Amino acid sequence: MTIGTRGAGPPRRHVILIGLVALHGVGCTATIHSPDPVGDALDLTDAAADLTPGDGSASDAEPLDAAPQDAVGDGTVGLDTFECPPPDDTTAAVYQALYPHCVGCHASGSRGYFASLAAFTASVVADPRLVAPGAPDDSELIRLLEGNGTGAFAQMPIGVVTYADLATSGVATMPMAELRAWVTGLSAPLPSDAPDPHARRITRVSATQMHRSLYQQLGLVHDDFFHPAQEYGVPLAERNSDLLYPIQPPDWVPAPRRQPTADRFYALGGGSAMNQVVESDTVSPTAVLTLLQVSQRWCRLALTKSPNAALFPAGTSMASDPSSVRATITRWSLHFHGQRFTEAEVDAFYDTVFVPLSQVDPEPGFVGLCSAFVRHPRWMVY
Ligand code: HEC
Repeated sequence: MTIGTRGAGPPRRHVILIGLVALHGVGCTATIHSPDPVGDALDLTDAAADLTPGDGSASDAEPLDAAPQDAVGDGTVGLDTFECPPPDDTTAAVYQALYPHCVGCHASGSRGYFASLAAFTASVVADPRLVAPGAPDDSELIRLLEGNGTGAFAQMPIGVVTYADLATSGVATMPMAELRAWVTGLSAPLPSDAPDPHARRITRVSATQMHRSLYQQLGLVHDDFFHPAQEYGVPLAERNSDLLYPIQPPDWVPAPRRQPTADRFYALGGGSAMNQVVESDTVSPTAVLTLLQVSQRWCRLALTKSPNAALFPAGTSMASDPSSVRATITRWSLHFHGQRFTEAEVDAFYDTVFVPLSQVDPEPGFVGLCSAFVRHPRWMVY
């Protein structure tokens, strides 16, 4: 289809038709001050409605021939259904003046220039390809409004009558001279050195970071979970047992032979380029639940590895008397969080985690401590 060319004949009809349908039912009453409403009492709303399901053939477009110029040129068909944004400065006034002629096609999507004043400012005014501050003649926006567009389109709004004509005839409220003066008065935005208020201040660790950190902090290695396998000569990682909750990211080499070992990575928020899974950094219930299971199982596995220099370096002991356990808690706070627990925090971990879990056997107490460190907010975010 030839939208955008200003030729005569059928292509133009298509353009008119699309413009009408898209403009149907939207508008900004406060900015329409047409002293002499363009066109007759032709009910264009109905014409547009009738055309909507059409296939764009000449017969579909027929009713428009009554007043195609007015229909598109006016650009205010059925415009009475929304409130205008308040003009609080020149850019807002420009936005408001252009709005009724543009929003029909630019309300949303990648060209949602008129979704809001903020959208207009960000995607039109701040785009040097469209607006060159201080230089109206170099601004594609101005050229489009005057029918001199240099890109795919000669004019905006698409159609026959340019915005400049609309302004001259009084249908549009802001004359081109004012729009040009606005561009002339714009200064190039200075880069701000103020902190971006929307910048993220806290981030959760990614699935890959979780996986790597757990291996290192727990003293675990690939071979604890996997042994080599092959299919059709392709090396694969075969899990030793799913009861160890193995995780092998799907894009890693060797690739995981079993889906659950990849699924666990996805559950933690991991992504895969090969399988087109987007990484997620939300703290989703699935991620938290998976980390809960993995942390407990992997801590237990790590504690059975003896010696395990990661958890119990030379000179330390896994003894379960209160002072040894407190020493372990203090050391693990540095090991897992890089931040030494206060006395109160050590007491809290000792009393609420270790003691209740170690009534019969100290091992669950250590598993509980280790996994509590992993599931701690200080471990999961930075
Ligand atoms: C009848 C529908 C319609 C109306 C009304 C309309 N546009 Fe567009 N506009 C389009 C289409 C279609 C495109 C091309 C979209 C694409 O390439 O993805 C476009 C593209 C644009 C572009 C990008 C041009 C480029 O070269 O990159 C700008 C800027 C623009 N429009 C501004 C406006 C302004 C300002 C108004 C109102 C004065 C307006 N449009 C009214 C349909 C419309």
